[in-house]
Amino acid sequence: MNAYSIKISTCLHLPLRMALVLFVTMFGAYTCYICLNQISVERSNSVLFGTIVTGNQCEIHAIPPEEIPYVHFPQPKTYSRDECSCTPVRFFVILSMQRSGSGWFETLLNSHPNISSNGEIFSAARRRDNISTIINTLDKLYSLDWFSSAAKNECVAAVGFKWMLNQGVMDHHKEILDYFKSKHVSIIFLFRRNILRRLISLLANDYDRYAKQLNGIHKSHVHSKEEAEVLARFKPTINVAVLMANFSYVERMIADCLHFFSSMRHIVLYYEEIIGNQNALSHVQEFLCVPERKLVSRQVKIHTRPLPEQVTNWEDVTKMLNGTRMLRIQDGCIQ
Ligand SMILES: *[C@@H]1O[C@H](CO)[C@@H](O)[C@H](O)[C@H]1NC(C)=O
Ligand SMILES: *[C@@H]1O[C@H](CO)[C@@H](O)[C@H](O)[C@H]1NC(C)=O
Ligand SMILES: *[C@@H]1O[C@H](CO)[C@@H](O)[C@H](O)[C@H]1NC(C)=O
Ligand SMILES: *[C@@H]1O[C@H](CO)[C@@H](O)[C@H](O)[C@H]1NC(C)=O
Repeated sequence: MNAYSIKISTCLHLPLRMALVLFVTMFGAYTCYICLNQISVERSNSVLFGTIVTGNQCEIHAIPPEEIPYVHFPQPKTYSRDECSCTPVRFFVILSMQRSGSGWFETLLNSHPNISSNGEIFSAARRRDNISTIINTLDKLYSLDWFSSAAKNECVAAVGFKWMLNQGVMDHHKEILDYFKSKHVSIIFLFRRNILRRLISLLANDYDRYAKQLNGIHKSHVHSKEEAEVLARFKPTINVAVLMANFSYVERMIADCLHFFSSMRHIVLYYEEIIGNQNALSHVQEFLCVPERKLVSRQVKIHTRPLPEQVTNWEDVTKMLNGTRMLRIQDGCIQ
């Protein structure tokens, strides 16, 4: 009798339990469905794109499926994106080195109404103390909670910044690559082909840091020919004994950087090739998926004279470069 009743109750229990589980699941799914529906209806007045419902209920269409991982709908902590809360945002980073045209390049990008490139955020050493401070900084930037003069937060469609290779990105490349992968950050590599010109610019800029030639103010970039002329007056003396070591250092850094990060979606740009070339800039805008514009910058180039006139010891430099493969590279660029 006992055995029988136990058997019955087990038999009764099983379907009952299954029915209950089914009911709960269906109820849950139904609630979820209602919920999603309501939210997407609520937002539909301000929705610019429409079909797929994403994580935070913005609808996107006209975006090819393979692009979807690259679009984000940041919800900043500090303000509301209002009518643009459903404008998809793409993340980018410019990996570059000092005196390679990245400051100028950023002013060009920032002349676009839908691009915010927020400057050299890791020049502040405390932000690159360790990988946690780096990730916190990146999170803040990509959630559009970063405020800089370049930030056009509400209706921005591409947000990024420039990161110099000597500012922590190479030291923590593994973790940073993982982060970039998880956020689908697109990379713009921006380098300068003529590393001798770069070195001269670096030395001249270092000099001005102390000399402050423009009315006691140090400037790395200028907006007038007069100012450019003042800064260009200084001619550094190249230490030829370490010249090849300096070149190798730069070349190694660039090669390593490409090696570490080129598995990401990327483009490689050279300063020399974007000067006066709107096609290159169209390509960049296409890469960032923003509507195409003519990009402009008020910056004026500082070192425009032929190379031999830019250093005090040109003869020593050519002697040192004679017979090396560098001579050819530098030759090609002598004006
Ligand atoms: C670009 O910005 C303008 C002005 O803020 C905005 O009206 C427009 O929707 C934005 N376009 C894209 C593609 O984000
Ligand atoms: C990282 O650096 C910050 C200070 O900048 C410190 O507070 C924090 O404990 C450090 N974290 C790790 C994991 O070392
Ligand atoms: C050039 O190389 C030397 C030796 O490696 C180094 O001490 C110096 O900082 C480098 N200078 C520049 C401007 O890179
Ligand atoms: C390079 O060196 C060779 C001999 O070693 C010499 O004939 C030539 O004039 C040198 N070129 C320059 C640009 O100094």
